[in-house]
Amino acid sequence: MKKILSIFLAFTIMFSLSACADNSSQEDTSSNITGETQTSNVSADNILIAYFSYPLDDGVDTVSSASRAAYEDGSLGNTNYIARLIQNETGGTLFEIKPEDGFYPTDSFEALAEQTQNEVEDGVRPAIQTSIDNLDDYDVIFVGYPIWWYDMPSIMYTFFEQYDFAGKTIIPFTTHGGSQLSGTVETIAELEPDATVSAQAHTVSRNDVTDAASDVAEWISSLNLSE
Ligand SMILES: Cc1cc2nc3c(=O)[nH]c(=O)nc-3n(C[C@H](O)[C@H](O)[C@H](O)COP(=O)(O)O)c2cc1C
Repeated sequence: MKKILSIFLAFTIMFSLSACADNSSQEDTSSNITGETQTSNVSADNILIAYFSYPLDDGVDTVSSASRAAYEDGSLGNTNYIARLIQNETGGTLFEIKPEDGFYPTDSFEALAEQTQNEVEDGVRPAIQTSIDNLDDYDVIFVGYPIWWYDMPSIMYTFFEQYDFAGKTIIPFTTHGGSQLSGTVETIAELEPDATVSAQAHTVSRNDVTDAASDVAEWISSLNLSE
């Protein structure tokens, strides 16, 4: 327990230090990143909320409605909970980006940290066991993930390599321990050159997830999806 705590502390300090640098990520001028989300009159049927979330059941990575209760007992991850708030606001369809069963450890932060660091070094692309039905139906794709190692988790690279979102609007959201968006909006724009990626991406600190509902509602309304 002591060891886990010291790793956790080291993570917290590292991520907090990295937070300042990450604010610059919004200033990128990639041509497919749009400052204001230019999609309006989108119906709920045309909105997909795809997310990856990986709560550990050792209690390290969770913060202490039905989904809020599940969230508070630790069975929903931070990003999953934010995805549900987005669903409440938009009526969109939730899609979980799910790794193969047993691919990641569920009971040890230390083991997950080691495995995921190795997969970044080795360029691993973890398989996704779920797939999107009727991709053609969706015009707006919210895409959410935790920041892992100052980047998207490797499985998000699998996701973007697997699906072509040409002609669609991608709106990223993250949860994090200090790194905010960590340059991932630009990375998504590079991986999906024929999609429009919204710079109105949203990020929630893992310390603020429980109280994020009004913030998320405000953000969704600023996107003017249903004008
Ligand atoms: C393996 C691992 C690596 C992480 N790396 C970072 C990081 O680089 N920067 C950061 O701010 N938070 C980092 N975190 C913290 C997570 O981004 C944060 O706890 C997130 O809210 C978890 O979301 P989830 O419950 O949906 O999986 C990391 C967490 C894990 C498990």
